[in-house]
Amino acid sequence: MQRTLTIIKPDGVKKNLIGEVISRFERQGLRIAALKKIKLSKDGAKGFYIVHRERPFYESLTDFMSEGPVVVMVIEGENAISKVRDIMGATNPADAAPGTIRRDFAENVERNIVHGSDKPESAAFEIPYFFSQIEIL
Ligand code: CMP
Repeated sequence: MQRTLTIIKPDGVKKNLIGEVISRFERQGLRIAALKKIKLSKDGAKGFYIVHRERPFYESLTDFMSEGPVVVMVIEGENAISKVRDIMGATNPADAAPGTIRRDFAENVERNIVHGSDKPESAAFEIPYFFSQIEIL
């Protein structure tokens, strides 16, 4: 059993895709262990994406992530990290496989609808960034 942190980004929330995205995860046997809708501040977005602080897209990414509400979730299941990533598709929608969330809905490499932890070490940082132990059920 594995846990991953998933975010429906401001573009996904704006496009009314919360239910659609959650359904795709649930249909593949994954379980929502925690969920909330919040609005990140610029600093909150910068802290979450701190690993990308040297990247040229860091400022733009953190502006985007703080432009409107997001839905943050802990998703649980066998191989949850890779399963969620398969369902999301490649970071750049142009490279994403047909039937994936990003291929179906994303505008570009930045405004790509969803985030999912890329490895267990990332999940171990990202889950407690948003949720305390008692909120994960
Ligand atoms: P995510 O999976 O949340 O991880 C980091 C995010 O940075 C990524 O999705 C995109 O939203 C964004 N990103 C990654 N690569 C680029 C890029 N080349 N240009 C702009 N944004 C990017």
